[in-house]
Amino acid sequence: MEGDTEIRIGFVGCGRVTEQLHLPALKSLQGMKIVGLADMDPEALHRASRHVDAEYRFTDYQDLLKVDSIDAVAICVPAQKHVEVALAALDAGKHLFIEKPLALTLEDCDRLIDRASRTTRMVMLGFNVRWHRLARQARALIQEGRLGPLDLIRSVLTSSHDSVPEWRKTRATGGGAMLEMAIHHFDLWRYLAQAEVEEVSAYTRSGLWEDESATVIARMSNGVLATVACAERTSQNNSVEICGRTGSLALSFYRFDGLECATTTSIPGDVRSRVDAAKRLIQELPQALLGFRHGGEWLLSYRDEWRHFLASLQNGAQPGCTLEDGRQALAVALAAINSASTGKSVRVDRR
Ligand SMILES: NC(=O)c1ccc[n+]([C@@H]2O[C@H](COP(=O)([O-])OP(=O)(O)OC[C@H]3O[C@@H](n4cnc5c(N)ncnc54)[C@H](O)[C@@H]3O)[C@@H](O)[C@H]2O)c1
Repeated sequence: MEGDTEIRIGFVGCGRVTEQLHLPALKSLQGMKIVGLADMDPEALHRASRHVDAEYRFTDYQDLLKVDSIDAVAICVPAQKHVEVALAALDAGKHLFIEKPLALTLEDCDRLIDRASRTTRMVMLGFNVRWHRLARQARALIQEGRLGPLDLIRSVLTSSHDSVPEWRKTRATGGGAMLEMAIHHFDLWRYLAQAEVEEVSAYTRSGLWEDESATVIARMSNGVLATVACAERTSQNNSVEICGRTGSLALSFYRFDGLECATTTSIPGDVRSRVDAAKRLIQELPQALLGFRHGGEWLLSYRDEWRHFLASLQNGAQPGCTLEDGRQALAVALAAINSASTGKSVRVDRR
Protein backbone atom coordinates (compact mmCIF):
# COMPACT_ATOMS: atom_id res chain seq x y z
CA MET A 1 0.00 0.00 0.00
CA GLU A 2 1.31 3.40 -0.84
CA GLY A 3 0.88 7.07 -0.07
CA ASP A 4 -2.69 8.04 0.47
CA THR A 5 -4.38 4.73 -0.47
CA GLU A 6 -7.69 4.42 1.41
CA ILE A 7 -7.57 1.57 3.92
CA ARG A 8 -10.71 -0.57 4.22
CA ILE A 9 -11.23 -1.93 7.68
CA GLY A 10 -13.52 -4.48 9.34
CA PHE A 11 -14.29 -4.70 13.07
CA VAL A 12 -14.58 -8.05 14.83
CA GLY A 13 -16.43 -7.37 18.10
CA CYS A 14 -18.84 -4.44 18.23
CA GLY A 15 -19.21 -4.01 22.00
CA ARG A 16 -18.29 -1.08 24.22
CA VAL A 17 -14.80 -0.24 22.93
CA THR A 18 -15.89 -0.38 19.29
CA GLU A 19 -19.18 1.43 19.66
CA GLN A 20 -18.19 4.09 22.20
CA LEU A 21 -14.54 4.74 21.35
CA HIS A 22 -13.22 3.43 18.02
CA LEU A 23 -16.17 4.19 15.74
CA PRO A 24 -16.63 7.77 17.07
CA ALA A 25 -12.84 8.33 16.89
CA LEU A 26 -12.66 7.10 13.30
CA LYS A 27 -15.45 9.43 12.15
CA SER A 28 -13.06 12.36 11.87
CA LEU A 29 -10.18 10.41 10.28
CA GLN A 30 -9.71 10.67 6.52
CA GLY A 31 -8.16 7.71 4.69
CA MET A 32 -9.68 4.84 6.65
CA LYS A 33 -13.11 3.49 5.76
CA ILE A 34 -15.07 1.10 7.96
CA VAL A 35 -16.61 -1.37 5.55
CA GLY A 36 -17.31 -4.39 7.75
CA LEU A 37 -18.72 -5.19 11.19
CA ALA A 38 -18.93 -8.61 12.83
CA ASP A 39 -20.39 -9.56 16.19
CA MET A 40 -21.99 -12.79 17.35
CA ASP A 41 -24.59 -10.68 19.18
CA PRO A 42 -27.04 -9.19 16.64
CA GLU A 43 -27.95 -6.38 19.07
CA ALA A 44 -24.32 -5.26 19.37
CA LEU A 45 -24.10 -5.36 15.58
CA HIS A 46 -27.22 -3.23 15.34
CA ARG A 47 -25.93 -0.67 17.89
CA ALA A 48 -22.62 -0.32 16.04
CA SER A 49 -24.43 0.02 12.71
CA ARG A 50 -26.02 3.23 13.96
CA HIS A 51 -22.54 4.84 13.89
CA VAL A 52 -21.45 3.64 10.48
CA ASP A 53 -23.13 2.50 7.32
CA ALA A 54 -20.91 -0.55 6.77
CA GLU A 55 -21.26 -2.52 3.51
CA TYR A 56 -20.80 -5.87 5.26
CA ARG A 57 -22.35 -7.10 8.53
CA PHE A 58 -21.92 -10.60 9.88
CA THR A 59 -22.64 -12.58 13.04
CA ASP A 60 -19.77 -14.97 12.17
CA TYR A 61 -16.40 -13.18 11.98
CA GLN A 62 -15.08 -15.84 9.57
CA ASP A 63 -17.42 -14.38 6.94
CA LEU A 64 -15.84 -10.95 7.39
CA LEU A 65 -12.37 -12.46 6.91
CA LYS A 66 -13.50 -13.84 3.54
CA VAL A 67 -14.17 -10.34 2.15
CA ASP A 68 -11.15 -9.76 -0.10
CA SER A 69 -11.59 -5.99 -0.25
CA ILE A 70 -11.08 -5.64 3.54
CA ASP A 71 -7.42 -4.73 4.12
CA ALA A 72 -7.26 -4.67 7.91
CA VAL A 73 -9.20 -6.12 10.81
CA ALA A 74 -9.69 -4.55 14.24
CA ILE A 75 -9.95 -7.27 16.89
CA CYS A 76 -12.18 -5.97 19.67
CA VAL A 77 -13.61 -9.15 21.17
CA PRO A 78 -12.76 -10.09 24.79
CA ALA A 79 -9.06 -10.90 25.29
CA GLN A 80 -9.48 -14.65 25.60
CA LYS A 81 -10.45 -14.71 21.90
CA HIS A 82 -7.86 -12.24 20.56
CA VAL A 83 -5.31 -14.83 19.45
CA GLU A 84 -7.85 -17.16 17.83
CA VAL A 85 -9.25 -14.31 15.72
CA ALA A 86 -5.79 -12.84 15.03
CA LEU A 87 -4.40 -16.14 13.70
CA ALA A 88 -7.43 -16.60 11.44
CA ALA A 89 -7.14 -13.00 10.20
CA LEU A 90 -3.43 -13.41 9.42
CA ASP A 91 -4.25 -16.61 7.51
CA ALA A 92 -6.76 -14.53 5.53
CA GLY A 93 -4.00 -12.02 4.70
CA LYS A 94 -5.33 -9.10 6.80
CA HIS A 95 -3.37 -6.43 8.65
CA LEU A 96 -4.30 -6.38 12.34
CA PHE A 97 -5.18 -3.90 15.02
CA ILE A 98 -5.58 -5.81 18.30
CA GLU A 99 -7.10 -4.40 21.48
CA LYS A 100 -5.30 -4.84 24.78
CA PRO A 101 -4.61 -7.13 26.57
CA LEU A 102 -2.97 -9.09 23.76
CA ALA A 103 -4.03 -12.43 25.29
CA LEU A 104 -4.46 -14.08 28.66
CA THR A 105 -1.36 -16.30 28.56
CA LEU A 106 2.22 -15.70 27.44
CA GLU A 107 2.10 -18.96 25.45
CA ASP A 108 -0.73 -17.50 23.34
CA CYS A 109 1.25 -14.27 22.86
CA ASP A 110 4.30 -16.24 21.71
CA ARG A 111 2.22 -18.33 19.31
CA LEU A 112 0.92 -15.16 17.68
CA ILE A 113 4.32 -13.44 17.67
CA ASP A 114 5.86 -16.46 15.91
CA ARG A 115 3.05 -16.60 13.34
CA ALA A 116 3.19 -12.84 12.70
CA SER A 117 6.97 -13.00 12.17
CA ARG A 118 6.26 -15.21 9.14
CA THR A 119 4.03 -12.66 7.37
CA THR A 120 4.45 -9.23 5.84
CA ARG A 121 1.20 -8.04 7.42
CA MET A 122 1.32 -5.10 9.86
CA VAL A 123 0.18 -5.75 13.42
CA MET A 124 -0.44 -3.05 16.01
CA LEU A 125 -1.55 -3.33 19.62
CA GLY A 126 -4.16 -0.93 21.00
CA PHE A 127 -2.51 0.78 23.97
CA ASN A 128 -4.18 4.09 23.13
CA VAL A 129 -2.57 6.04 26.03
CA ARG A 130 0.70 6.03 24.04
CA TRP A 131 -1.04 8.28 21.50
CA HIS A 132 -2.50 10.66 24.07
CA ARG A 133 -1.11 14.13 23.40
CA LEU A 134 0.09 14.52 26.99
CA ALA A 135 1.84 11.13 27.05
CA ARG A 136 3.74 12.07 23.88
CA GLN A 137 4.66 15.47 25.33
CA ALA A 138 5.86 13.81 28.54
CA ARG A 139 7.98 11.29 26.64
CA ALA A 140 9.59 14.10 24.64
CA LEU A 141 10.37 16.07 27.82
CA ILE A 142 11.86 12.97 29.46
CA GLN A 143 13.97 12.21 26.38
CA GLU A 144 15.24 15.81 26.32
CA GLY A 145 16.46 15.19 29.87
CA ARG A 146 14.17 17.83 31.43
CA LEU A 147 13.46 15.63 34.47
CA GLY A 148 17.01 14.31 34.86
CA PRO A 149 17.40 10.62 35.67
CA LEU A 150 14.01 9.17 36.62
CA ASP A 151 13.31 8.01 40.16
CA LEU A 152 9.64 7.26 40.60
CA ILE A 153 6.39 6.81 38.65
CA ARG A 154 2.99 6.89 40.36
CA SER A 155 -0.17 5.99 38.42
CA VAL A 156 -3.84 6.13 39.35
CA LEU A 157 -6.53 4.65 37.10
CA THR A 158 -10.09 4.45 38.35
CA SER A 159 -13.50 4.10 36.72
CA SER A 160 -17.16 4.15 37.64
CA HIS A 161 -18.63 0.89 36.36
CA ASP A 162 -21.88 -0.26 38.00
CA SER A 163 -21.96 -3.41 35.99
CA VAL A 164 -19.66 -5.15 33.53
CA PRO A 165 -20.09 -7.94 30.94
CA GLU A 166 -19.75 -11.50 32.29
CA TRP A 167 -16.24 -11.94 30.89
CA ARG A 168 -15.05 -8.97 32.97
CA LYS A 169 -16.03 -10.63 36.25
CA THR A 170 -13.19 -13.16 36.55
CA ARG A 171 -9.45 -13.16 35.93
CA ALA A 172 -9.79 -16.41 34.01
CA THR A 173 -11.83 -14.67 31.31
CA GLY A 174 -9.79 -11.46 31.24
CA GLY A 175 -11.63 -9.44 33.88
CA GLY A 176 -10.49 -7.46 36.90
CA ALA A 177 -8.58 -4.22 37.35
CA MET A 178 -5.16 -5.75 36.66
CA LEU A 179 -5.90 -7.09 33.16
CA GLU A 180 -8.43 -4.45 32.16
CA MET A 181 -6.95 -1.28 33.66
CA ALA A 182 -3.50 -1.48 35.26
CA ILE A 183 -2.10 -3.04 32.08
CA HIS A 184 -2.49 0.34 30.31
CA HIS A 185 -0.12 1.89 32.83
CA PHE A 186 2.34 -1.04 32.74
CA ASP A 187 2.69 -0.25 29.05
CA LEU A 188 2.85 3.49 29.76
CA TRP A 189 5.68 3.00 32.28
CA ARG A 190 7.68 1.08 29.66
CA TYR A 191 6.92 3.77 27.07
CA LEU A 192 7.88 6.71 29.32
CA ALA A 193 10.85 5.22 31.19
CA GLN A 194 12.18 3.23 28.19
CA ALA A 195 12.87 0.32 30.53
CA GLU A 196 11.33 -3.01 31.47
CA VAL A 197 9.39 -3.85 34.60
CA GLU A 198 11.48 -6.47 36.39
CA GLU A 199 9.69 -7.33 39.64
CA VAL A 200 6.28 -6.65 41.19
CA SER A 201 4.39 -6.95 44.47
CA ALA A 202 0.62 -6.62 44.36
CA TYR A 203 -2.65 -6.74 46.26
CA THR A 204 -6.15 -7.03 44.83
CA ARG A 205 -9.58 -6.81 46.41
CA SER A 206 -12.66 -8.55 45.01
CA GLY A 207 -16.25 -7.37 45.47
CA LEU A 208 -19.11 -7.77 43.02
CA TRP A 209 -16.50 -9.25 40.69
CA GLU A 210 -12.91 -10.48 40.96
CA ASP A 211 -10.10 -7.91 41.42
CA GLU A 212 -12.31 -4.80 41.44
CA SER A 213 -9.37 -2.94 43.00
CA ALA A 214 -5.64 -3.47 42.67
CA THR A 215 -2.37 -1.95 43.80
CA VAL A 216 1.04 -2.81 42.40
CA ILE A 217 4.57 -1.77 43.39
CA ALA A 218 7.21 -2.39 40.74
CA ARG A 219 10.96 -2.14 40.18
CA MET A 220 12.13 -1.35 36.67
CA SER A 221 15.34 -2.36 34.88
CA ASN A 222 16.72 1.20 35.10
CA GLY A 223 16.10 1.39 38.85
CA VAL A 224 12.85 3.39 38.60
CA LEU A 225 10.27 2.45 41.23
CA ALA A 226 6.65 2.55 40.05
CA THR A 227 3.23 2.13 41.62
CA VAL A 228 -0.30 1.93 40.27
CA ALA A 229 -3.61 2.07 42.16
CA CYS A 230 -6.75 0.95 40.30
CA ALA A 231 -10.40 0.75 41.29
CA GLU A 232 -13.28 -0.07 38.96
CA ARG A 233 -16.23 1.15 41.04
CA THR A 234 -15.55 4.75 42.09
CA SER A 235 -15.14 8.09 40.28
CA GLN A 236 -13.07 8.43 37.11
CA ASN A 237 -9.38 9.28 37.10
CA ASN A 238 -6.49 8.47 34.81
CA SER A 239 -3.25 10.11 35.83
CA VAL A 240 0.44 9.59 36.31
CA GLU A 241 3.28 11.44 38.02
CA ILE A 242 6.84 10.99 36.85
CA CYS A 243 9.57 12.18 39.20
CA GLY A 244 13.18 12.75 38.19
CA ARG A 245 16.17 14.26 40.00
CA THR A 246 15.69 17.72 38.44
CA GLY A 247 11.91 17.91 38.14
CA SER A 248 8.63 16.12 37.83
CA LEU A 249 5.59 15.91 35.58
CA ALA A 250 1.98 15.28 36.51
CA LEU A 251 -0.34 14.12 33.71
CA SER A 252 -4.10 13.91 33.96
CA PHE A 253 -5.35 12.25 30.77
CA TYR A 254 -8.99 13.35 30.93
CA ARG A 255 -8.05 17.06 31.11
CA PHE A 256 -6.91 19.10 28.11
CA ASP A 257 -4.73 21.19 30.47
CA GLY A 258 -3.62 18.09 32.34
CA LEU A 259 0.15 18.48 32.15
CA GLU A 260 1.94 20.14 35.05
CA CYS A 261 5.69 20.50 35.43
CA ALA A 262 7.48 21.12 38.70
CA THR A 263 11.12 21.86 39.41
CA THR A 264 13.07 21.01 42.52
CA THR A 265 12.41 24.51 43.87
CA SER A 266 8.71 24.94 43.03
CA ILE A 267 5.98 24.22 45.58
CA PRO A 268 2.53 23.05 44.42
CA GLY A 269 0.01 25.90 44.62
CA ASP A 270 2.59 28.70 44.99
CA VAL A 271 2.08 31.90 42.98
CA ARG A 272 4.57 30.95 40.28
CA SER A 273 2.96 27.52 39.69
CA ARG A 274 -0.50 29.11 39.50
CA VAL A 275 0.63 31.77 37.02
CA ASP A 276 2.35 29.10 34.87
CA ALA A 277 -0.81 26.98 34.94
CA ALA A 278 -2.96 29.98 33.90
CA LYS A 279 -0.56 30.78 31.02
CA ARG A 280 -0.69 27.17 29.83
CA LEU A 281 -4.50 27.19 30.02
CA ILE A 282 -4.69 30.27 27.78
CA GLN A 283 -2.12 28.85 25.34
CA GLU A 284 -3.87 25.48 25.07
CA LEU A 285 -7.47 26.70 24.93
CA PRO A 286 -7.71 27.02 21.12
CA GLN A 287 -6.32 23.49 20.67
CA ALA A 288 -8.71 22.23 23.35
CA LEU A 289 -11.74 23.83 21.70
CA LEU A 290 -10.75 22.09 18.46
CA GLY A 291 -10.39 18.85 20.39
CA PHE A 292 -13.84 19.19 21.99
CA ARG A 293 -15.34 19.12 18.49
CA HIS A 294 -13.80 15.65 18.06
CA GLY A 295 -14.90 14.28 21.45
CA GLY A 296 -12.21 15.69 23.74
CA GLU A 297 -8.63 14.72 24.64
CA TRP A 298 -9.41 11.15 25.59
CA LEU A 299 -11.24 10.28 22.37
CA LEU A 300 -8.49 12.01 20.40
CA SER A 301 -5.98 9.48 21.78
CA TYR A 302 -7.94 6.77 19.89
CA ARG A 303 -8.09 8.89 16.74
CA ASP A 304 -4.33 9.49 16.89
CA GLU A 305 -3.76 5.78 17.49
CA TRP A 306 -5.75 5.05 14.29
CA ARG A 307 -3.93 7.81 12.44
CA HIS A 308 -0.63 6.11 13.36
CA PHE A 309 -1.90 2.69 12.21
CA LEU A 310 -3.13 4.22 8.96
CA ALA A 311 0.28 5.85 8.31
CA SER A 312 2.03 2.55 9.03
CA LEU A 313 -0.14 0.75 6.49
CA GLN A 314 0.29 3.47 3.89
CA ASN A 315 4.05 3.85 4.32
CA GLY A 316 4.96 0.27 5.17
CA ALA A 317 6.58 1.32 8.48
CA GLN A 318 6.33 -0.92 11.55
CA PRO A 319 3.64 0.45 13.94
CA GLY A 320 4.85 2.01 17.21
CA CYS A 321 3.13 -0.46 19.54
CA THR A 322 3.99 -4.06 18.73
CA LEU A 323 3.01 -7.59 19.70
CA GLU A 324 6.15 -7.68 21.87
CA ASP A 325 4.87 -4.59 23.72
CA GLY A 326 1.56 -6.39 24.24
CA ARG A 327 3.33 -9.48 25.52
CA GLN A 328 5.53 -7.52 27.93
CA ALA A 329 2.61 -5.59 29.45
CA LEU A 330 0.72 -8.87 29.89
CA ALA A 331 3.78 -10.45 31.53
CA VAL A 332 3.71 -7.64 34.13
CA ALA A 333 -0.04 -8.06 34.72
CA LEU A 334 0.30 -11.85 35.12
CA ALA A 335 3.22 -11.44 37.51
CA ALA A 336 1.13 -8.95 39.54
CA ILE A 337 -1.82 -11.36 39.66
CA ASN A 338 0.56 -14.10 40.76
CA SER A 339 1.94 -11.84 43.48
CA ALA A 340 -1.56 -10.93 44.69
CA SER A 341 -2.40 -14.65 44.90
CA THR A 342 0.77 -15.80 46.65
CA GLY A 343 1.61 -12.77 48.77
CA LYS A 344 5.17 -12.84 47.38
CA SER A 345 7.01 -10.50 45.05
CA VAL A 346 7.31 -11.99 41.55
CA ARG A 347 9.88 -11.49 38.79
CA VAL A 348 8.42 -10.62 35.39
CA ASP A 349 8.89 -13.12 32.54
CA ARG A 350 10.99 -11.75 29.66
CA ARG A 351 10.92 -13.32 26.19
N1 LIG B 1 -8.14 0.50 24.78
C1 LIG B 1 -9.15 0.77 25.58
O1 LIG B 1 -9.28 1.85 26.10
C2 LIG B 1 -10.21 -0.29 25.81
C3 LIG B 1 -11.43 0.08 26.40
C4 LIG B 1 -12.39 -0.92 26.57
C5 LIG B 1 -12.13 -2.24 26.20
N2 LIG B 1 -10.93 -2.55 25.64
C6 LIG B 1 -10.62 -3.93 25.23
O2 LIG B 1 -11.42 -4.23 24.08
C7 LIG B 1 -11.84 -5.59 24.12
C8 LIG B 1 -13.38 -5.62 24.08
O3 LIG B 1 -13.86 -4.93 25.22
P1 LIG B 1 -15.37 -4.35 25.27
O4 LIG B 1 -15.43 -3.51 26.51
O5 LIG B 1 -15.76 -3.76 23.99
O6 LIG B 1 -16.19 -5.70 25.52
P2 LIG B 1 -17.74 -5.98 25.24
O7 LIG B 1 -18.09 -7.19 26.02
O8 LIG B 1 -18.53 -4.73 25.44
O9 LIG B 1 -17.75 -6.30 23.67
C9 LIG B 1 -17.17 -7.46 23.14
C10 LIG B 1 -18.02 -7.87 21.95
O10 LIG B 1 -17.39 -8.99 21.31
C11 LIG B 1 -18.42 -9.84 20.85
N3 LIG B 1 -17.86 -11.17 20.64
C12 LIG B 1 -17.37 -12.04 21.55
N4 LIG B 1 -16.91 -13.15 20.95
C13 LIG B 1 -17.10 -12.98 19.63
C14 LIG B 1 -16.83 -13.78 18.49
N5 LIG B 1 -16.22 -14.97 18.58
N6 LIG B 1 -17.17 -13.30 17.27
C15 LIG B 1 -17.77 -12.09 17.14
N7 LIG B 1 -18.05 -11.29 18.20
C16 LIG B 1 -17.72 -11.72 19.42
C17 LIG B 1 -19.46 -9.79 21.96
O11 LIG B 1 -20.74 -10.22 21.49
C18 LIG B 1 -19.43 -8.33 22.34
O12 LIG B 1 -20.39 -7.56 21.63
C19 LIG B 1 -11.23 -6.18 25.37
O13 LIG B 1 -10.01 -6.78 25.06
C20 LIG B 1 -10.99 -4.96 26.26
O14 LIG B 1 -9.95 -5.15 27.19
C21 LIG B 1 -9.97 -1.61 25.43
